[in-house]
This record gives sequence, C-alpha cells and structure tokens, in this order.
Amino acid sequence: MGHLARLATAVAVLFAVPSLAAPVAASAKYCDGPTGVCYSEISVGVAPITWRIAIPSVAEGPFDILLQIVAPKSVGWAGIAWGGGMLYNPISLGWANGNSTVPGARFASAHVQPEVYESAEHTVLKGSGTNATHWTLTTLCKGCSTWTHNGGAKEALDPGATAASFAFAASAAPPIDVTDPASPIGIHSEHGIFTLDLAAAKSEQFDAWVAQLK
Ligand code: HEM
Ligand SMILES: *[C@@H]1O[C@H](CO)[C@@H](O)[C@H](O)[C@H]1NC(C)=O
Ligand SMILES: *[C@@H]1O[C@H](CO)[C@@H](O)[C@H](O)[C@H]1NC(C)=O
Repeated sequence: MGHLARLATAVAVLFAVPSLAAPVAASAKYCDGPTGVCYSEISVGVAPITWRIAIPSVAEGPFDILLQIVAPKSVGWAGIAWGGGMLYNPISLGWANGNSTVPGARFASAHVQPEVYESAEHTVLKGSGTNATHWTLTTLCKGCSTWTHNGGAKEALDPGATAASFAFAASAAPPIDVTDPASPIGIHSEHGIFTLDLAAAKSEQFDAWVAQLK
C-alpha cells in the first residue's frame, strides 16, 4: 500500500471509529441526595454519558449490580459491556421511551447486532425518567456479574477490583421500537473503555438501597 493510501485508510478508520484514545481511569464516588444511594461513577464519551455502579459488600460473584445511566437526550441508546469489550459478555442497554426509560440485555459473539440475553434480568427502579435535557435509567441487573465466555470458560467480575475494565457504546439513533426491551438497535456512533473502582462501589446498605428504590 502506498503512503497516500495508507494515510487515507488511517483517516477513514479514525473517523469510522470515534473512540477514546486511552481508557479513562478517573472514577469518583457519587451519592444521590434524595435517596442516599452511593455509586462509583465516571462520565465518558462525546455526549458525555455518566455511568454509576453500586454493588453489595461481597468477596466474589455472582452479585446483583445497581446501574445508573445518565445521558443527554441526544443519546438514542447507551450500553455497557461488563467484561470490557463488545464480545462474549453481558451488555446492559438503556434508552428513553417518552418520559420513562427502558433497559435491555444483550450478548454479542460477533461484531454484529447482539442477541437478546436471557440470562440477565433488569428491573427498572426509582430515579429513572427524563427531564428537559437528560434521560436517566436506574436499574438492578441480576446476571451481569458472571457469564460464560465463548468456549465455555466461566467469567466473573472481581468485586475487589479498584480499576475494573468496562466498555461502553452509544448511538444518537434510538432503537427501532423504544417500547420494546428486545428491540433491534443500530450500530454505535462511538465506543470506548473505562475503569471504575468496584471495591469503592461496595456497600453493606446495598440490599436496603435496592428495597428502597423498588
Ligand atoms: C447493531 C449493534 C452493533 C453492531 C452492528 C456493532 C458492530 C461493531 C463493529 C463492526 C465493531 C468493530 C469495528 C469498530 O471498532 O468500530 C464494533 C466494536 C465495538 N463495539 Fe459494537 N456493535 C453493535 C453493538 C454494540 C453494543 C450494544 C455495544 C455495547 C457496549 C458495543 C460495543 C463495542 C465495543 C466496545 C467495540 C470495540 C471492540 C470490541 O470491544 O470488540 N457494540 N462493534
Ligand atoms: C413528559 O414530561 C413532560 C415534562 O415534564 C410533560 O409535559 C409531559 O406531559 C409528559 N408526557 C407524558 C406522556 O407523560
Ligand atoms: C436533568 O437531569 C440531569 C441528570 O440528573 C441533571 O444533571 C440536570 O441538571 C437536569 N436538568 C434539569 C433542567 O433539571
């Protein structure tokens, strides 16, 4: 390949794949005023989208995960891949449906439309909804902390990790049917990776928080 062709390819790839150059590692603690629920949080990407995670005080998985996604209304869907990449791990999706928000579970074994994932269950909790500028999904995921990789290896999140790796993706285009948690989605317009302090996301109050948010 000549220099020009190579340059053109590099430029095309850069524009086709707008993602973060390097993992963003500055996660922080966020406590919600009205509910007192505390999460590890990070804001990433062009929108940007805020990802918040709280987990129970456990030494190993499986455990339930409290996930809060806060996104500008310009975001049609946003997703987090719990194993840190698009492939072979549970993906939690969120989007707005009028004044409410919808969660979805997916699993991808190729870089195509991910399959609906029956092994993860998302419950919509209080603190979900929209305002003039943003949509917020607060959801409990059962089945997002352990999974089976391609080939059968068991994978599990380490709740003691101070820099657990996650991947995210988002698109400005909403899913085809925003009322349906199993709706097809279009490809992301951005994706990237970040780390969150899972150890700091642990709380003895986890079960009480979940009960309070139901
Ligand atoms: C219709 C749905 C989807 C299609 C067609 C699709 C397609 C693709 C393709 C072709 C790539 C490789 C090229 C590139 O780097 O841009 C890719 C990478 C990626 N996608 Fe998707 N994707 C979809 C949904 C998702 C979802 C829901 C997530 C959720 C987090 C996601 C996360 C990622 C990530 C993190 C990468 C970087 C490489 C990797 O981790 O494998 N994608 N996707
Ligand atoms: C959605 O919220 C807006 C602003 O709070 C309100 O004006 C509108 O009536 C709500 N729509 C529905 C369908 O509840
Ligand atoms: C809408 O909600 C977001 C997320 O909670 C918040 O940051 C923003 O200030 C809210 N905007 C208005 C106008 O209330």
